[in-house]
Amino acid sequence: MPTQRANHRPPTRPGTIGVPARRTHIPGKERMDDIVVAAAAASPSPWSLLQGLLALLVVWGAYRAAERYWLRPRRLDRALRAQGLSGTEYRFPAGDLQENARLNDEARSRPMPQCHDVVPRIMPHLFDTVKEHGNVCITWFGPIPRVIITEAELVRDILSNKFGHFEKFTNKRLGKLLALGLASHDGEKWAKHRRILNPAFHLEKLKRMLPAFSTCCTELIDHWENKLAGSDGSYEVDIWPEFQNLTGDVISRTAFGSSFMEGRRIFQLQAEQAERIIKAFQYMYIPGFLFLPTQNNRRMKEINGEIEGILRGMIEKRERAIENGEASGNDLLGLLLQSNMDSGKGSLRMSTEDMIEECKLFYFAGMETTSVLLTWTLVILGMHPEWQDRAREEVLRVFGKDDKPNLDSLSRLKTVTMILYEVLRLYPPAVTLNRRTFKDMQIGGITYPAGVILELPIIVVHHNPDVWGTDAHEFKPERFAEGISKATKDDQPAFFPFGWGPRICIGQNFALLEAKMALSMILQRFEFQLSPSYTHAPYTVITLHPQHGAPIIVKKI
Ligand code: HEM
Repeated sequence: MPTQRANHRPPTRPGTIGVPARRTHIPGKERMDDIVVAAAAASPSPWSLLQGLLALLVVWGAYRAAERYWLRPRRLDRALRAQGLSGTEYRFPAGDLQENARLNDEARSRPMPQCHDVVPRIMPHLFDTVKEHGNVCITWFGPIPRVIITEAELVRDILSNKFGHFEKFTNKRLGKLLALGLASHDGEKWAKHRRILNPAFHLEKLKRMLPAFSTCCTELIDHWENKLAGSDGSYEVDIWPEFQNLTGDVISRTAFGSSFMEGRRIFQLQAEQAERIIKAFQYMYIPGFLFLPTQNNRRMKEINGEIEGILRGMIEKRERAIENGEASGNDLLGLLLQSNMDSGKGSLRMSTEDMIEECKLFYFAGMETTSVLLTWTLVILGMHPEWQDRAREEVLRVFGKDDKPNLDSLSRLKTVTMILYEVLRLYPPAVTLNRRTFKDMQIGGITYPAGVILELPIIVVHHNPDVWGTDAHEFKPERFAEGISKATKDDQPAFFPFGWGPRICIGQNFALLEAKMALSMILQRFEFQLSPSYTHAPYTVITLHPQHGAPIIVKKI
């Protein structure tokens, strides 16, 4: 976004993290500009002028394509390799995308044993490249170099950077169809949105949302109890769709309060949209592919139009109500509107369009990730019944059999918290984070030129035996017994399921409270084991899904 960048980019001189650096100079571009101007001045008649201009346009287009797909990749590759980095060779025009897809297909064609050494299945291309070329190595996202960085300290340094020297790497056009908002903004726009959104996620505001969490969990429990009532004492259920519905309902209620049913419609549309976006993602390297009138592209635009229409209606209705003196409410939308109004006038506020994007993001960021966490937690507690028993003992000790969990009691759950952390370590819902350099930056002794993607695969950091010990692939919640900072070998921070630094997940308390509430209410009433039909097959569809679902067998206790 050029206008935002202009606002937050510091003046230019060479730099390390936190020190401004020189912009990359493109000599060929100026030469071409001179040729265009000189040729235009020399052409006498309008017709030949037009022909000349057309020819120049073709040359200019060819030059731009050569620059994008050949010259720049070569230039950046040389700059990185000259500093001792190695990695895969650039392959015109798709880089490693095809090989990546091939290895993913191969890995996904078979399940894996029930163990937690999951990285080779989840990211086979990345795993092989790191094994061959080391902890910091080059791969290619189409014509763009993507340097993989798996060292915890460097990951932390990059994520901690407060100066916006690393941008988010997002496709704005594709993002607009799903959700832009806070997660994809940079610079001043990000700072303004984060300031306005922060109050809605404070713990004392979340406390008021607990009844909504509890209502949704009770519906799920009642549903399972009804199924059990008509059975021989056990009920097989695929928890993956169940938890997607649960977290979708939670976000619909907590975001939109009384407009819950409209919220549900958005949630259904967003789910369809996410599937279609993943389809479209395979063609990312074809410029302008989103403009092609394919059936998928048309439907995506239609869905986006419907979602934005519903949200606009809700926002405008709520704004009118607040202007007429009604309370803004305890839901996320009400808190967001109030905070927006309190933030001042004019450009200090977010526009309705901005607000629509933030609401879309609540669904995408908040629903999918939390359902992934809950699903893997139950799967793993099915694999490790001794920890399921320990967690249940704690829940029954703290709440008894019937009490509804509240904020105080939830914060007393130590074993449950350790279990959730260990699941987030082994199966982080967001397996990898990306940033992009927009100017020369030095990290770990390497100067990265502008235009390089830095891939930070947090799942690889979470499974590194040098950081976590030789038992890194084992499920051992006790490693978190003395808190996160003491869980690693040298007490070095290397636990990033919610990111790190200024852009750390704004909804992490929301997610952990929701997960603790759901898990506690399930443990209070049921015991469960993995169904014999369960196949262990974690794979990524943006977040970390169970490829063949997650069937478990539930019994009443
Ligand atoms: C287990 C659940 C969750 C996980 C694992 C998770 C993970 C993450 C991660 C890793 C980031 C950082 C992305 C980056 O630095 O590039 C992030 C950012 C974000 N998350 Fe979450 N998240 C979860 C739940 C939620 C919930 C419940 C919400 C809201 C209702 C939410 C809203 C956001 C937003 C708005 C951002 C962008 C923050 C910014 O850029 O300033 N997340 N999340």
